[in-house]
Amino acid sequence: MDLFNVYKRWDIEPVRGSGSTLWDAAGQEYLDLYGGHAVISIGHSHPHYVEAISKQIAKLGFYSNAVQNSLQDTLAQKLGVISEYPDYHLFLCNSGAEANENALKLASFHTGRAKVLAFGAAFHGRTSGAVSVTDNPKIRAPFNETDKVTFVPLGDLEAVKKELDTQAYAAVIIEGIQGVAGIRVPDDSFLKGLRALCDQTGTLLVADEIQSGCGRTGKFFAHQHAGVKADLITMAKGLAGGIPIGAVLINPVIQASYGLLGTTFGGNHIACAAAIAVLEVMEQEKLMAHATKLGEWFEQQLKGDPALVEYRGRGLMIGLEIKPEFVGLRDRLLKEKHIFTGASGERVIRLLPALNLPEESARKFVEAWKDLTK
Ligand SMILES: Cc1ncc(COP(=O)(O)O)c(C=O)c1O
Repeated sequence: MDLFNVYKRWDIEPVRGSGSTLWDAAGQEYLDLYGGHAVISIGHSHPHYVEAISKQIAKLGFYSNAVQNSLQDTLAQKLGVISEYPDYHLFLCNSGAEANENALKLASFHTGRAKVLAFGAAFHGRTSGAVSVTDNPKIRAPFNETDKVTFVPLGDLEAVKKELDTQAYAAVIIEGIQGVAGIRVPDDSFLKGLRALCDQTGTLLVADEIQSGCGRTGKFFAHQHAGVKADLITMAKGLAGGIPIGAVLINPVIQASYGLLGTTFGGNHIACAAAIAVLEVMEQEKLMAHATKLGEWFEQQLKGDPALVEYRGRGLMIGLEIKPEFVGLRDRLLKEKHIFTGASGERVIRLLPALNLPEESARKFVEAWKDLTK
C-alpha cells in the first residue's frame, strides 16, 4: 500500500523539535515560523507539555465519554477564564472541521432554520458541512453542493443585511481573521455591524477561531479585538499544541440534549492534558502579551518593505503579500536560509510561529528576508 496522494510535501522530514527549532535526520537545523500550520502554539516539545502528556498517558490514556472525566471540567474552567467566555459551555471533538460541523448543526437545531451565510474566500474545513461553507468549489464534490449556503463578500454589510433580513439563516460563520485566504482581517466596524444584524434577525454568530484563536493575535480570540461576542466559537489547531483536538464554545442560551452531539475520541484524557498544559504555559509565560509585542515588532520591520505589496495581520498571524518579482521567495527562505514559513498561493507568505518565538529568531527571519530581497 502507498499513501493517498493529497498533500504537496516539502522534501524534508523533521525528526526532532525544540521551541521554534526543528532538525532533520542529517542534523540540519531549521527555524520554524509555520508551526505545522499554527498548531505549535507553545513551541515544540515544551518541557511542561511533555511532562503533562507523559504523566497522563502513564496513568490513563483514554476512556470514552461514557464516564466522568474531570480533565474536561478543568479544561472547560480554564478555557472559560482565559477566553473571557466563563459562562459558555464547552463541547470537545477532534479537529477544526468537526468543530465547525458541530457548531453549524447546533445553530440549525437551536434556530430551527436551515441556511448559513458565509464569506468569500472563507475556509472552514474539508468535511461535508465545513466544505459547504468554504468558498472553494475545487474542493467540493457534487455531494457537498447545497442551496443552503450563501456567500457574500467579506466586509459587505449591506449584502449581509439583505440575506439576514429574510430570517431564513441559522448562522453566519466568519473566521476571526481569514487564514487560507491570505490573512484578511475583517474591520472591527464590520464585525460590530454583523453582531447587530445577527441580533436583529435571530441569527447566531459563529466565529471560526481555529487558526486565529488561542492567543495568536494577542487576544485569546481575534474577534475580541472588535469588542464583540460570538454565540458559537470554534477552536482546534493550537489548543492542544499538536495533539488532535476540536472545541466548540457555546452560548448558554443554546440548549443541549443527550445524544445531539457526540464523538468517541473527543475530550480524551491525552488531548485534555495537552490543552490544559498549553493554557498553563500561555498564562505562565504571558504568551498573548508576547504575541502582541513581537507582532508589533514584525510590523515595524516589514510594513512598507520594498518587496511587499501589503503587510497584513495581527500579533503572530501575519500575511506578507509579495510583489510578483519575488514569487519563489518562500522556497528560497527554506532552501537557502532553512526557514519554514506558510503560504497562501504564490503571492502570500504566512507566518504562524509559536507564540513564544524568541526575539532573536524573529530578527533572524527579518535578516534573511532583507538578504534575499535586496
Ligand atoms: C479557519 C479554519 N477553519 C477550519 C479549519 C479546518 O481545521 P482542520 O484541518 O483541523 O479540520 C482550518 C484549517 O486550516 C482553518 O484554518
